[in-house]
Amino acid sequence: MPLLQAATAVRENAYAPYSRFKVGAAIRSASGAIYAGCNVENVAYPEGTCAEAGAIAAMVAAGETAIAEVLVIADSPSPVPPCGGCRQKIAEFAPQDARVTLCTTEGVSRTMTVADLLPGVFSAAHMDRA
Ligand code: THU
Repeated sequence: MPLLQAATAVRENAYAPYSRFKVGAAIRSASGAIYAGCNVENVAYPEGTCAEAGAIAAMVAAGETAIAEVLVIADSPSPVPPCGGCRQKIAEFAPQDARVTLCTTEGVSRTMTVADLLPGVFSAAHMDRA
C-alpha cells in the first residue's frame, strides 16, 4: 500500500533525539499524489513538529489543499493516535469522512474517519457571526 510504504520510509528520517519516538505520516491528496512527513524535534521542546504537520506542509507547499486519506505509523504498543493539535490540522484540509489509518511498526492498524478523530471540530462556520 503506497501510503504505508511512504510513511514507513519517511519515519526513518525522523529527527527525534529527545523522545526517541520516530513517527512517519503520509497523506494522499485529492489529486492522488502522496506527501510524507516525519517528526522534527528541537532542544527547545515546544518548537518540535509532528509528522502529520510535516506531511501537511509538504502538501501545501506543492500547491494542494485537499486531503483524501492519512496514515500515521510509529513503534508504539498500539496504533499511534495523532495529537490534539494534529487532529485540528488534519481537519483543516480533510473532509469529515476521510480515512485516517493509525499503525504500529509491528503491523497492527486501526482505521477511522476524521470525524471519529475530532468530534465537535472547530470550523470556519463557527465564526459566521464575526
Ligand atoms: N508525534 C508525532 O509526530 N505524531 C503523532 O501522531 C504523535 C506524536 C511526535 C511528536 C514528538 O516528536 C514525539 O512524537 C513524542 O511526542
